[in-house]
Amino acid sequence: MPSFKNFREGWVRPALFFGNNPLSLIGGALTTAAGLTLVGFWIVDILGRGGSTNPYLGILVDLLLPGVFVFGLLLIPVGMWLRRRRLRIKGQLPEAYPQINLADPIFRRGIEFVLAATFVNFILVGTASFRGVAYMDSPNFCGAACHVMYPEYTAYKIGPHSHVPCTECHVGSGINSYIRAKANGTKQLIEVAFHHYPTPIGSPVESLRPARDICESCHTPAKFAGDKFIVKTSYGDDEHNSRTQSIVLLHIGGRDTLGNLTGIHGVHLGHIEYVATDKERSTIPWVMRRTPDGKETVYATSAAGSGVPQGERRTMDCIDCHNRAAHAFVTPEEALNNAMYAGAVSPQIPWIHKEGMELLKASYASEDEARQKIPAQLEAFYRSSHPEVLASQSALVKTAGQQLAVVYSQNVFPFMKVTWGTHPNNIGHMNYPGCFRCHDGDHVNKAKAGDSIPNDCSTCHNLLAVDEPNPKILSEIGMQ
Ligand code: HEC
Ligand code: HEC
Ligand code: HEC
Ligand code: HEC
Ligand code: HEC
Repeated sequence: MPSFKNFREGWVRPALFFGNNPLSLIGGALTTAAGLTLVGFWIVDILGRGGSTNPYLGILVDLLLPGVFVFGLLLIPVGMWLRRRRLRIKGQLPEAYPQINLADPIFRRGIEFVLAATFVNFILVGTASFRGVAYMDSPNFCGAACHVMYPEYTAYKIGPHSHVPCTECHVGSGINSYIRAKANGTKQLIEVAFHHYPTPIGSPVESLRPARDICESCHTPAKFAGDKFIVKTSYGDDEHNSRTQSIVLLHIGGRDTLGNLTGIHGVHLGHIEYVATDKERSTIPWVMRRTPDGKETVYATSAAGSGVPQGERRTMDCIDCHNRAAHAFVTPEEALNNAMYAGAVSPQIPWIHKEGMELLKASYASEDEARQKIPAQLEAFYRSSHPEVLASQSALVKTAGQQLAVVYSQNVFPFMKVTWGTHPNNIGHMNYPGCFRCHDGDHVNKAKAGDSIPNDCSTCHNLLAVDEPNPKILSEIGMQ
């Protein structure tokens, strides 16, 4: 076999000879270590156990580790070329290349070095990757390390789902959504690295897992929730921040003990499809309800025209109402009312509602600026217009200023262009169209005169009080 002999003498022996240099040896060790780690990830992935569903893992498994692999691979010929050049300049190129001989101490030392370096590198690369995975899986990574997600992370931490990992809702199960999420995650990380991401990040999220898979793994949709008593407290712009309250008894319903679907949950958990003509799903000209007996009723606005309009067609699920379940941003009115009700911004301070609202709605270049300016301007306002307030309640004013800044920083993120109202909440109808996207009286059944998606005030709740100073019902049930 002369060609094999040629190959051995003309290529393999010189390669090993020139390759016996630190640079090439380190390259070889890096490549093997990255390769072994990669194979480890693939095996865990294929077994499907202990594998992570994190979308950003793609950057590690698909980019970083292969990067180290290729880098190591490139170091080998570079090292060989350098050694060859060095020897040629010194005129020390051998006539014939040494045989491959394990007894040769130089050759043996090279092999020992590669083995040892591979072992060390494997431990290093492997541990770093493993820790990287654990880190990337934590909400901390999604929310804090990646500052792009900071608005959602901030709202999430104070929301009811602060113990549900981001990936639980944002990454699907199954190989398809896994691969899609990974590709998406890698794209996002690259966008972030090159400062080329959308501000704000838009909703709705098209790649969200179906609500059936996310929400229903913890909440039983058919659980009968009955009626919910909701009290909302607001304050006025007058000197005394006069307090009023609205009270509704909301018919959440569900599946009752007789198996009937009732109330808000019951009705929509049946089959309702709709077409939205804008990306935000805020304009819904066409809605179809299918009852269990297969009967279909179409409700449409005059804008829908005849037939089914063009747009996104969707079957209604939890997220059409609970779109802000995990990270809700509120309006400045809600934010201030809540803070005053909780006492963080004391309603005892004259004019605080009016002045607080103005400060919240003003624009600030950054969160830092808001944190510094809001308390300072509140104090300046009282100093110039109502010094007697500052004299008697300076501590309350100071706390109020700080708390206003906190409220601001939980809802407005100038660097991501997230401001009041950027992410509407669909759960009610007072602040955003919400339920009234369909329940507005304009969605009519053309086949049956007088039939429309109901919108009278008693459809969804009993209105027990609307902006009353001292609702009688509260004293009757001993709440006042
Ligand atoms: C309980 C489920 C759930 C959890 C947990 C969750 N999200 Fe979301 N997220 C959603 C839903 C639902 C939407 C879609 C809102 C829409 O379609 O209008 C969304 C939308 C988003 C968006 C798009 C922009 C926006 O504000 O609507 C971002 C970014 C986001 N989530 C990041 C996160 C991060 C970061 C975490 C963890 C810190 C997280 N999410 C945890 C359910 C969740
Ligand atoms: C991993 C479990 C889990 C998942 C997934 C989950 N939730 Fe929850 N959810 C909870 C827990 C636990 C609470 C109760 C928190 C509390 O009472 O403080 C809760 C509370 C709620 C509440 C009541 C909030 C309030 O302010 O009282 C709503 C509404 C809700 N979840 C909707 C959803 C929706 C919609 C989804 C899907 C997008 C979802 N949840 C996904 C565990 C989960
Ligand atoms: C048609 C709109 C709508 C849909 C669809 C919907 N919900 Fe609700 N849900 C509501 C309203 C309204 C409330 C009461 C809101 C409040 O407490 O302020 C509520 C309340 C809840 C609560 C809190 C119940 C309590 O006792 O406080 C949970 C949990 C919940 N929903 C889960 C779900 C899940 C899971 C789905 C999907 C299977 C779902 N919802 C679908 C409108 C909806
Ligand atoms: C995508 C359109 C759509 C949205 C959004 C929507 N609904 Fe509905 N809703 C319907 C349809 C369709 C019906 C069935 C009407 C019928 O058959 O009479 C319905 C029925 C109801 C009913 C039962 C009315 C009755 O008397 O039978 C209640 C209660 C209700 N919705 C509450 C809500 C609440 C609360 C929200 C917001 C959190 C909401 N809906 C959001 C489409 C919608
Ligand atoms: C399609 C269902 C639906 C209809 C119709 C409806 N509401 Fe509501 N309403 C809701 C829901 C859901 C909430 C609770 C929102 C929340 O939990 O934040 C609510 C809350 C309220 C509140 C509480 C105060 C607040 O600031 O949130 C008032 C007041 C109110 N509705 C008034 C009305 C009036 C007046 C009408 C008739 C013109 C009406 N609603 C029709 C679903 C409806």
